[in-house]
Amino acid sequence: MREHLDVPTAMLFNNGTIALLVALKLFDLPEGSEVITTPLTFAATAHAISWNGLKPVFADVLPHSLTLDPESVEKAITPKTSAILGVHVYGTVCELGALQDIANQHGLKLIYDAAHAFGTRVNGRSIASYGDASVFSFHATKLFNTLEGGLIASPRPEDQEAIYFLRNFGIKNEEEVISIGINGKLNELQSAIGILNMQGISSEMQSRSVLRQQYREMLGDLEGVELQPQQAGVTSSEQYFPVVIDPVKYGRTRDQIYDELKNLGILARKYFHPICTDFVPYRDCPIHSVRPVPYVSKVKSQVLCLPFHSGVDSQDLIDIEAVFKRGIN
Ligand SMILES: Cc1ncc(COP(=O)(O)O)c(C=O)c1O
Repeated sequence: MREHLDVPTAMLFNNGTIALLVALKLFDLPEGSEVITTPLTFAATAHAISWNGLKPVFADVLPHSLTLDPESVEKAITPKTSAILGVHVYGTVCELGALQDIANQHGLKLIYDAAHAFGTRVNGRSIASYGDASVFSFHATKLFNTLEGGLIASPRPEDQEAIYFLRNFGIKNEEEVISIGINGKLNELQSAIGILNMQGISSEMQSRSVLRQQYREMLGDLEGVELQPQQAGVTSSEQYFPVVIDPVKYGRTRDQIYDELKNLGILARKYFHPICTDFVPYRDCPIHSVRPVPYVSKVKSQVLCLPFHSGVDSQDLIDIEAVFKRGIN
């Protein structure tokens, strides 16, 4: 994994959530301090902050990329802020330079939830080498998976040892425990599945890249259906194909399309809806934004991830196209 991700530290975990917990633990952030993150993510991102005795603070996303908006992050900073936890949601890369500048300026740690971005490169540089640490998930839903699994990557070789102890109860030897660790180890069966699955990922990525192109040709001209722009210099992780459906311009809602596809046995996903701030533990948390109404509050009911894997066949594509183009000449 060190080789594959081109980083000096890459430590395997039993799942991405425990890896996120440990990544935050690694930096000894002051208890009760605030970590700024996006609400447009899986609940585990916010939960990992809370389980560390830290406070998740939510900031808005950018309309074009749906990743954390640096200006909204700046607005959310207080004297209690200790870190930023960006998410490369759908494999779309965060504003790496702007977030790093903010982190440097305010003395904050910058951690990335890269659960969706395994294998992504930015101008040839591995996504895992940005920020202070990046966390990957190898859950069965991910392109590369170990059924359940995860990984922490860091650009510093010295983190390897600290992560090792945090991952394994803090055990140094038979008689010494040197830190308050957890059991985060990836087991042998998970590893064996990972080794097998590694052999298949490049052909799966190739199939998905063809599918991406087919979706683009099929949906690219539809008024009110916005596709994610190709980011310059970024090689895609080929994990998601999100579309944003504007009900006013398009004439139908995201939920209508979701239901129509479901009636045909085609399962799209309303990732991530509800967003974290809709969930009971975070319901009272504001979303800091430079906009009068946070963009994420609007887009959460518009975003839909289409089926994106090599099992999507030509009949599925015909059905998906028919649903999207119903009533459109
Ligand atoms: C953005 C994001 N972060 C964290 C996780 C948690 O990873 P895991 O399921 O491996 O615990 C997931 C998904 O599974 C995710 O999509």
